[in-house]
Amino acid sequence: MRNKPVILVTRKLPQAVEERLQRDYQPILNPSDRLYSDDELIEISAGVDAIMPCHTEKFTADVIARLPANVRAIANFSVGYDHVDVAAAKAKGIIVTNTPDVLSDATAEIAILLMLGAARRASEGERIMRAGKWKDWSPAFMVGRQVTEKRFGIIGMGRVGQVVAERARGFGMDIHYYNRKRLDGDLEKGATYHETVEDLLPNADVLSVHCPATPDTMGLLNSERLSLLPDGAIVVNTARGGVIDDDALVAALKSGKVYGAGLDVFNGEPENIHPGYIDLENVFLLPHIGSATEETRDAMGFRALDNLDAIFSGAEPRDRVA
Ligand code: DGY
Repeated sequence: MRNKPVILVTRKLPQAVEERLQRDYQPILNPSDRLYSDDELIEISAGVDAIMPCHTEKFTADVIARLPANVRAIANFSVGYDHVDVAAAKAKGIIVTNTPDVLSDATAEIAILLMLGAARRASEGERIMRAGKWKDWSPAFMVGRQVTEKRFGIIGMGRVGQVVAERARGFGMDIHYYNRKRLDGDLEKGATYHETVEDLLPNADVLSVHCPATPDTMGLLNSERLSLLPDGAIVVNTARGGVIDDDALVAALKSGKVYGAGLDVFNGEPENIHPGYIDLENVFLLPHIGSATEETRDAMGFRALDNLDAIFSGAEPRDRVA
């Protein structure tokens, strides 16, 4: 009987996912959930048929070049794959897959939480409570912004963007979006399409970012573009930190050009995020937990396994990106 393929699983995964891995493969698990260095990753890849990593492992061109030839696939436990140099993987004949669709609902929930948190000063309120500093109530106390019936601007109307739009419609918000391609009417559902980001921005009382991090979107929200937002807009990011120029956003938050920001993803995360965010009252910060629900974590694992199953049965994996 043919040996089961060996899969290097870089992080601790949900029990049901690890059980399926144990049943169908020879997994090398990481019960301590320790983040491997590049050198360790390369060393323990000796003899593995595929790697099932998260966005925390960086497959740069250098790492890919040093991976042993036995590695046939990188089946990401993530929808984003900006942590993988896809061109280098392709050149080396390594199949790369991701996990789209299954985290759209969870990420949309976090985008709405961030919007409301920023608009209603949730972080500030929480800190007042926890510090025992709540001494009085008055009509002037902790007054925030209402989002109901405001304009909700979306950069990147893919799967997550579309679910977020649906949730925002629940607040009576008027949806505007920029996407590389205009959506068909049945998906657009009355949203207003803008052909450029520059056209979208003046129409976004709340701006939510849902595009991937690519060379084209890095630093997309710079000071020139932020200046196009209506005064007092709210900025939400659940996509990737790289899409935002942090100096520019911090300056806009300080000047009041941007009323508040809700951020789940950061340049330099987890340990080197822009210090400007930490001191500001008007930012609502979360530690990259857009997809962190029990349901979604299971679904991400199963989707990554479906891709591996296809690869090892000689079929084309559904979510191949390289
Ligand atoms: C994703 O799937 O891309 C999320 O950001 C978690 O990695």
